[in-house]
Amino acid sequence: MLRTHTCGELRMSDDTKIVSLCGWTHSRRDHGGIIFIDLRDRYGLTQVVFDPSHNKAAHQEGEKLRREDVIRITGKVRPRGPDLENPKLATGQIEVLIDQFEMIGKADTPPIEIDDHKPASEEMRMKYRYLDLRRPSMINNFIVRHKAAQSARNFLSNNKFIEVETPLLIKSTPEGARDYVVPSRVHPGKFYALPQSPQLYKQILMVSGFDRYFQLAKCLRDEDMRADRQPEFTQIDLEMSFVHEEDVFKIIEGLLRQMWKEAVNINIQTPFIRLPYEEALDRFGSDKPDLRFGMELINLNDAVKGSSFGVFNSILEHSGLIKCIVVPKDLSRKDIDELTQFAMQFGAKGLAWMKRTEKGFESSIVKFFSNDILQKIQDKTQAKAGETLLFVADKSAIANDVLARLRNRLGKELSLYDEKVLKFCWIVDFPLFEWNDDEGKWDTKHHMFCAPKAEHIPFLKSDPGKVYATLYDVVLNGTELGSGSIRISDPKLQEDVMSVVGYPKREAERRFGFLLEAYKYGGPTHGGIALGFDRLVALMLSLDDIREVVAFPKTKSAECLMDNSPSEITEKEFKELSIKVDVARKRVTSRAEGEG
Ligand code: AMO
Ligand code: AMP
Repeated sequence: MLRTHTCGELRMSDDTKIVSLCGWTHSRRDHGGIIFIDLRDRYGLTQVVFDPSHNKAAHQEGEKLRREDVIRITGKVRPRGPDLENPKLATGQIEVLIDQFEMIGKADTPPIEIDDHKPASEEMRMKYRYLDLRRPSMINNFIVRHKAAQSARNFLSNNKFIEVETPLLIKSTPEGARDYVVPSRVHPGKFYALPQSPQLYKQILMVSGFDRYFQLAKCLRDEDMRADRQPEFTQIDLEMSFVHEEDVFKIIEGLLRQMWKEAVNINIQTPFIRLPYEEALDRFGSDKPDLRFGMELINLNDAVKGSSFGVFNSILEHSGLIKCIVVPKDLSRKDIDELTQFAMQFGAKGLAWMKRTEKGFESSIVKFFSNDILQKIQDKTQAKAGETLLFVADKSAIANDVLARLRNRLGKELSLYDEKVLKFCWIVDFPLFEWNDDEGKWDTKHHMFCAPKAEHIPFLKSDPGKVYATLYDVVLNGTELGSGSIRISDPKLQEDVMSVVGYPKREAERRFGFLLEAYKYGGPTHGGIALGFDRLVALMLSLDDIREVVAFPKTKSAECLMDNSPSEITEKEFKELSIKVDVARKRVTSRAEGEG
């Protein structure tokens, strides 16, 4: 070893020891000819001292040191002296007086500061990711991620799960996003898909009798980026045979309890509450409700019947939804204008409001409501003086979505909850299908392999909207952490479900024949779930953006600014792969011409 200790290790008890340390030059201070360096590594900072009266040659080298130079020093540990101690540093009581010095790696001036208090712009952080990752807070994120992964592996192993790797070059597993595809050189014109999840493989492992499977699986999806989405991400993916959904819940509650304890030393409360999908939508407008605060949505369809407010009446005529939230604040006109813009951005046609004062409701729209109706609104909302009602009237999907977004936004802005609280819940009893208005067809709410509730199977052909599934999500503070279901293990039933979403028998066989066939040789009942591991670690650390816990993430446009992927390939490679791509060819040709 080039070092005897790390930069976070030395204490008063090491006084007078001769030690060697290696690390980066974090900062440098010159005090009357004596040079003090904070030497940094993953473990911490140690002050090392070049004293010309002790070693002139070393001091001369020290004078040339620049930020981020990597050095090795050997010297004697000594106390800093009572007035010079730094109580903020674990090593703050000692320093090392340098005898020998060695330059390991010279550094150019870093384009970004290695300082948690001065993070650079997003773009610079992504481009110089190796420097960004030097920051202690970033390293800490990855230590937590590592501990969480270790904890998950241990917990699942102790519960008889076995870790199996499934392939990355596959046929296709539909999870609702576009596939990334990989051309086959050996089979011109044919492509592999990269897995959106290991879903089909874990089902097949159950058919093989593996009983309990898990994997920290890489998933790849070509979809629009958001703060909680990356094109490649990691799932804690698992599957269990001969279980009910409650068995899956119990495993996941135990797993999350252990992970939170071991990775960030936080005790979480289990079991989590169970909230049926329809109730979640009714009360919170969302299937991923933030349960840290109230301000629930209130349905006013009955209360406002018979008013002369045209906006509401036309929604009632078209079987829409009129809902409101009661905001515990006397919102200003400016606030309301801003919130109206926000609501309209998500599809609302407006945002009606009423203020509750000591005298009753006040608003330009109050005149459209009789006292009787106003009383009904009061009874439903229990509004208090000083509060503001915000109404959205629209198709139910829009009314729910917009009010859910307003609720989340105002909950945060008005500090209606303690950021530190963790409110987990299970959303259960999802519908199996949802109507796709644009394409005029049924889609699955989650994926095609979720088992319909036995009592709803008769509606599969006649009324798919009535079919609910043994399908569940685990939600934390308004974020979907994971999703799973009990699966279909009867190939005939699987074909029926596929046909509802538009895969006739022949097409189903072409795409999923191998899965349907596997179940013909004896399939167990089974179910499972996948947790979004990046989201989970971000939530452990109270971070909003999962890129903070992904070592080399992609930007919003799915690029890596560090290695510049995606990038062009050469004409030769196109030929080998038997691919002609107009855009790519043009770019490659123009680049080659430019170079010439
Ligand atoms: P689903 O598609 O719901 O289910 O994914 C499970 C969980 O993975 C996380 N997740 C993501 N995280 C980061 N970036 C993304 N682009 C992204 N997409 C999803 C979410 C989500 O809850 N095979 C099924 C699971 C099953 O049925 O067992 C599946 O993949 O936290
Ligand atoms: P208008 O009659 O269009 O002037 O709208 C009167 C009030 O109702 C305004 O505050 C609008 O923002 C609001 N409003 C209009 N359409 C809707 C709607 N669909 N839901 C809720 N409020 C609306």
